[in-house]
Amino acid sequence: MNPNSELGPALQALIARADRALATALPAEHAPPTDLHRAMRYAVLGGGKRLRPLLVYAAGHALGCDDPVLDAPACAVELIHAYSLVHDDLPAMDDDAMRRGRPTCHIAFGEAMAILAGDALQALAFELLAQTAVAPAIGMAMQRALGRACGADGMAGGQALDLSAVGRSLTLAELEHMHACKTGALIRASVQLGAMAAGTDNDTLDALDRYAHAVGLAFQVRDDILDVEGESAVIGKTAGKDAAADKPTFPSIIGLDASRARLAELTDEALAALGPLDAPHSPLRELALYAAHRLR
Ligand code: IPE
Ligand code: IPE
Ligand code: MG
Ligand code: MG
Ligand code: MG
Repeated sequence: MNPNSELGPALQALIARADRALATALPAEHAPPTDLHRAMRYAVLGGGKRLRPLLVYAAGHALGCDDPVLDAPACAVELIHAYSLVHDDLPAMDDDAMRRGRPTCHIAFGEAMAILAGDALQALAFELLAQTAVAPAIGMAMQRALGRACGADGMAGGQALDLSAVGRSLTLAELEHMHACKTGALIRASVQLGAMAAGTDNDTLDALDRYAHAVGLAFQVRDDILDVEGESAVIGKTAGKDAAADKPTFPSIIGLDASRARLAELTDEALAALGPLDAPHSPLRELALYAAHRLR
């Protein structure tokens, strides 16, 4: 099965574009320190749905921005995402051995190299983002948006909430807040960066942010459902880990049926937020549906 077979040809072409840009931006494998460079390339290349870069391109395209301007922010969000996965899989966090259908970075390269690879991927993300061909004030605002999304009020904060919630019961509101931080923040930033690179007005930015908030939450609800219903061979990671680790998730807190209903509600919210940017085959619409219905 083509792992991205749920997406149409235009988005498939953008995945290939992002893959090429990432392969070029990452340090060469043969250059020292080779272990670090190999671990970084391993963590980023050869798998992954590339949802976050696709959102950068889709938001930018919807507002008339061209691919060459969007390549740097598209790579930056995927590098942050890959770093977050490497650290998420560490023994001190989720202690996972499989990711994207192969051994996790720390299994392949050791814990120390995995930690350093994550650190270096995060730094490279900001280095690349700073090279986006936009006016300096827009570039600074983009740096700030990405920094906020991966810091204590975003992804890292959400991961801390996730770890402190193990074995505790959360209310639905607390669960949604945790998901909005750990997964939603970077998905929101992806849409924001694409829109900012296009140089858009505040009203459009707000509408796209409502879209991205709903897509980000839907994406993590689907992730929680796939952990229950998915097969390891398809999802590329060990299924059933959330229940085994006593993680609070949508299915564990409200059950599978209510999780599916929430997913449908969030998808409707996302599409409604698009307003005039929506069209029957628009990439933003396709990505909202993909986030909610993906099989892996
Ligand atoms: C997995 O993200 C971690 C979550 C935030 C749910 P993805 O499902 O986007 O992982 P890849 O990039 O496709 O491997
Ligand atoms: C991970 O969430 C979120 C981040 C990496 C920021 P999960 O722990 O649910 O992701 P998977 O299921 O391991 O991919
Ligand atoms: Mg986790
Ligand atoms: Mg995990
Ligand atoms: Mg998960």
